[in-house]
Amino acid sequence: MKKTEKIEKIYEGKAKIIYSTDDPDLLIQYFKDSATAFNAKKKGTIQNKGILNNKISSIIFKFLEERGIRTHFVERLDDREMLIKRLKIIPVEVVVRNIAAGSLSSRMGIEEGRPLKDTVLEFYYKSDKLGDPMINEYHIKAFDLSSPEDIKKITESALEINRHLVEFFDNRGIRLVDLKLEFGHRVYSDENNGEILLGDEITPDGSRLWDKETEKRLDKDRFRRDLGGVEEAYQEIYERVSRS
Ligand code: TMP
Repeated sequence: MKKTEKIEKIYEGKAKIIYSTDDPDLLIQYFKDSATAFNAKKKGTIQNKGILNNKISSIIFKFLEERGIRTHFVERLDDREMLIKRLKIIPVEVVVRNIAAGSLSSRMGIEEGRPLKDTVLEFYYKSDKLGDPMINEYHIKAFDLSSPEDIKKITESALEINRHLVEFFDNRGIRLVDLKLEFGHRVYSDENNGEILLGDEITPDGSRLWDKETEKRLDKDRFRRDLGGVEEAYQEIYERVSRS
């Protein structure tokens, strides 16, 4: 296969940079070491995070594809770069929760670690300016953020992805507490609004991963809460997801 060439930076986010390529339907996703929390009020660097997240995300996207989930992942190119399909991201972040933690614990006044009677699914409006406010299906409809048909597809897909990943992490001694997912429509050079694919990344930046035995946090909460051992936690997740 001919090597896809990087052309120019088209977007820079808090943790990743997106580049166009000589193939109009494909992009390169570059993973940075920078870390932010609390809507970028807290900023820092996690040494090697970009390399580890690129590898972790690549393994997880491959696993999901094997389970029949369609994702934007094409292949990992090198340490920090992944080739992806071009998507138009739907501006709705989907958070799926299996165990109470973080903002759910604060909102409901329950301790972190309490198992939930049923899976909780939440929507947030993807807007850095507004700090990603929580929304529901009425907001999505009223503000035309996505169609009701697409929201139905995304909801079903998010729950299915969560089921596969709970099992995947459980087999590696990890409890998947919660995770954030983003979806988008495939954009082709000659046509718009293709199928919906899972986009973005699946890494310890956007999920909570606890050791099953000790409940040790192995995710970005170590950075958010100044718990120390941040890089070691990402390295630990990489080693465990690498196990087949
Ligand atoms: P929360 O408990 O702070 O609402 O976070 C729920 C999950 O979503 C957690 O795994 C971290 C992830 N998340 C992001 O990926 N980006 C964000 O901006 C926030 C607030 C959470």
